[in-house]
Amino acid sequence: MLEAVERKISQYIEDLNDADAIALYTKLPHGKRLRAKLILKIAGSSLVSIKTAAIVEMIHAASLLHDDVIDDAFVRRGTASLNAIYGNKTAIMLGDILYSKGFYELNNIDKEVSKVISNAVVQLSLGERNDVLLSERFNSDKQKYLKMIYQKTASLMEASAEAAALLAGKPRETYRTYGRNLGIAFQMIDDLLDVIQTSEQLGKPAMHDYEEGKVTLPFIYLYESLDQVEKLRLTSLHAQRLSSDDQQWITIKMNEYGIVQKCFAEAKILVEEAISLMNEAGENSLENIARSMIERSF
Ligand code: FPP
Ligand code: MG
Repeated sequence: MLEAVERKISQYIEDLNDADAIALYTKLPHGKRLRAKLILKIAGSSLVSIKTAAIVEMIHAASLLHDDVIDDAFVRRGTASLNAIYGNKTAIMLGDILYSKGFYELNNIDKEVSKVISNAVVQLSLGERNDVLLSERFNSDKQKYLKMIYQKTASLMEASAEAAALLAGKPRETYRTYGRNLGIAFQMIDDLLDVIQTSEQLGKPAMHDYEEGKVTLPFIYLYESLDQVEKLRLTSLHAQRLSSDDQQWITIKMNEYGIVQKCFAEAKILVEEAISLMNEAGENSLENIARSMIERSF
């Protein structure tokens, strides 16, 4: 049923009646459509679920277009990002088009659904800002990190699940928690992959987050485990270009302290909690989406 979502997005873009916007949109890789999958699995594939899924994916795509400009990222989904090909201005403007058309269409959906989604987009924007602010200096505060990834990533997954529950007349709180746990686990794994995968696997430089100043969960845990001298070495590397010796040292220390396992276990707890919520609700098909959160390799 994801094809119906793709068709709805294409229809919304066609509605704009603007050849340039249509051409630019065709250049955008689609991604996993995780949020749309979540909505359709929870709410079924009625017209209103398809519209909600399309709107959420348009907003998500807009946020990534802006994020790649903010992060100076030239690779997205293994290929050149739109900002790398057409420049920052074009990427921002396509983001604005997708975002505003998404909001326009959101107006035609149930008021409560629209409130849930639009509130999540506020959180998303605050989360992106906090991500940038936290990157300015070495952040060893796990609570600040967790709040930021909740806002930046989990809020829209939480809202997708809650909105879908509203559409389907299911208990919103249960699905909201399910979506939130999935979102936090998703970002934790994303942050972990940046540390454990090679640049070939990632399609972007490895440990780039730390070079960008982002002190993600593996780095927070590593910092907590290191002795004073090692702590100094780690913080001196913050927001710097890492040599292969530095990268190797970080990997060795992460192995020594079992950091990867520790982060993975934390994401797994959230996913297991989400799965048991769905099992209690008799929604066994939502288990696979939850599992794919921690079993993914990109
Ligand atoms: C990716 O994080 C970024 C997000 C999930 C949120 C981006 C949000 C905004 C730019 C604000 C909202 C803007 C609009 C237009 C709605 P990441 O950089 O950690 O992940 P990545 O590795 O996929 O880039
Ligand atoms: Mg980014």
